[in-house]
Amino acid sequence: MKNNLSNIKKAIKYLNKNQCVGIPTETVYGLAANAYSSAATIKIFKLKKRPQKNPLIVHYYDLKFLKKDCVINKHFLKLYRKYSPGPISYILKLKKNSLISKNVTNKQKTLAVRFPSHPITRNLLKKLNYPLAAPSANISTKISPVSKQDVKDEFGKKIDLILDGGTSKIGIESTIISLVNKPEILRLGGIPKEKLKKYLRLDLQFNSKSKIKSPGQGKTHYSPYIKLRLNVKAINKNEAFILIKKRKKISKNYFYLSKKNNLKEAAKNLYKTLRIIKKRKFKSIGIEKIPNKGFGEVINDRLQRASCFK
Ligand code: TXA
Ligand code: MG
Repeated sequence: MKNNLSNIKKAIKYLNKNQCVGIPTETVYGLAANAYSSAATIKIFKLKKRPQKNPLIVHYYDLKFLKKDCVINKHFLKLYRKYSPGPISYILKLKKNSLISKNVTNKQKTLAVRFPSHPITRNLLKKLNYPLAAPSANISTKISPVSKQDVKDEFGKKIDLILDGGTSKIGIESTIISLVNKPEILRLGGIPKEKLKKYLRLDLQFNSKSKIKSPGQGKTHYSPYIKLRLNVKAINKNEAFILIKKRKKISKNYFYLSKKNNLKEAAKNLYKTLRIIKKRKFKSIGIEKIPNKGFGEVINDRLQRASCFK
């Protein structure tokens, strides 16, 4: 804990100097900078090689801080009380007098906001007098990081500090829900769609083609840049095989996402497994069919995008 505190102090020092810092969250690691500063947020885009038209999610400690920047509505309050802090991001209307840098929103009138639950990042946010813009800490379109080492592998010495919060518990990005007009889901993620639908008692749809654009949901994303073959029953020679559940027959090409066929556990292990396979220099990956429900739907969404690259 002592170590954590001194590292948090260091992080504050760098952030106050408009530098980027790697931060742990329960979903994936983020590349954070002062969301009120243009000098700081421009560095995020440069480091990630991210197109500037792709807006950033801003991370807050709690509702009190958020009220300075966004217009609050009843659906938001209902969801916030149940799911925040946690793996959900909300799209809200930006207040006219908000201090959020124009880089963050790409001059749009909406803002994506999130309240991460990881204790180290909560502790950091509580001590700052600005919120943190933080996209996933990977080079644009590549696999999101779920550990300090993963962030190091992405940026090497280009960033001064990465806070170590262990392996991310959820291991997949937050669900994004737009509350600007009628609620709709823009990205599947850490809280399954069905749960939100039941709780809000609304006909909540996943709408990747919504009028509220989520530009980051491009065709290629989360990609190891290795050929991926989905829904396969058997693999080719020298191919890695990703399975949902441990099998009796063991081979060094086999990678299990879960011990007991648990889709939440499988989602947690997805990015980690893709990185291991890449490090072992496989040229192709076969993946068995994954049931398209709950976290299975999230895994399928990510695999679909991961497999689209030229
Ligand atoms: O779990 C997460 O959400 C992680 C952790 C670090 O918090 N962050 C994350 O950020 O996944 P990023 O930048 O990799 O993905 C954010 C997505 C992008 O697809 C972006 O286009 C979308 O959110 N987005 C950001 N602002 C938006 C807005 N105002 N309206 C619609 N979509 C927005
Ligand atoms: Mg990302």
